[in-house]
Amino acid sequence: MIFRIAPSILSADFARLGEEVRNVIAAGGDWIHFDVMDNHYVPNLTIGPIVCKAIRPHVRAPIDVHLMVRPVDRLVIDFAKSGANIISFHPEASDHVDRTLSFIRDHGCKAGLAFNPATSLHYLDHIMDRIDLVLIMLVNPGFSGQLFIPEILNKLQDVRRRIDIYSEQTGREIYLEVDGGVKADNIAKIREAGADTFVAGSAIFDQPDYQQVIHQLRQALESSR
Ligand code: DX5
Ligand code: ZN
Repeated sequence: MIFRIAPSILSADFARLGEEVRNVIAAGGDWIHFDVMDNHYVPNLTIGPIVCKAIRPHVRAPIDVHLMVRPVDRLVIDFAKSGANIISFHPEASDHVDRTLSFIRDHGCKAGLAFNPATSLHYLDHIMDRIDLVLIMLVNPGFSGQLFIPEILNKLQDVRRRIDIYSEQTGREIYLEVDGGVKADNIAKIREAGADTFVAGSAIFDQPDYQQVIHQLRQALESSR
């Protein structure tokens, strides 16, 4: 199994964003995780397609857009045009989840569905063929630097089982990404519950040496194999 680390630029220095994304990818990050908050679906306001477009030329790595906005559909078009590669949204934020998922793929991106800690997994029941990624929130969305909620590990195991069954039947891969509170001292436990893609914001950007933290995260992942 391949593990991916997706540094969340929510914790980066926004005054030097181009340099930050280049540095964190050079330091071993796999994807740039891009948190979009609208002060409506979540109580915080961050960045939009203009900023995505601005960082696009700085890295070849996939830009993994996490939409915490309501409504969703219009922003899909803007982010697809601004160089996003993966777009995830929260099912509660779309009136027509199936349509939004198709919409993301129609605009050339991989589609992800994001689950808050209390969101039921029933949203996965009829759309597995429509998604490329499941994003499990280990905290309530809105802020970086929160502690992960251990109960979610049970939910993660559940999703892993669903994905494994689906992949066995179809041969198609679906990424299982986790977001919130991921650190070097808990990433092994989170991997054991089934995650393969790890967002980390404050764990990486709050340290002076990104390469060292990313190395520590990978070592913790490898030692738990
Ligand atoms: C939270 C965001 C996360 C956040 C993670 O709503 O979706 O991506 O940046 O930050 P840490 O890793 O610090 O919890
Ligand atoms: Zn996120």
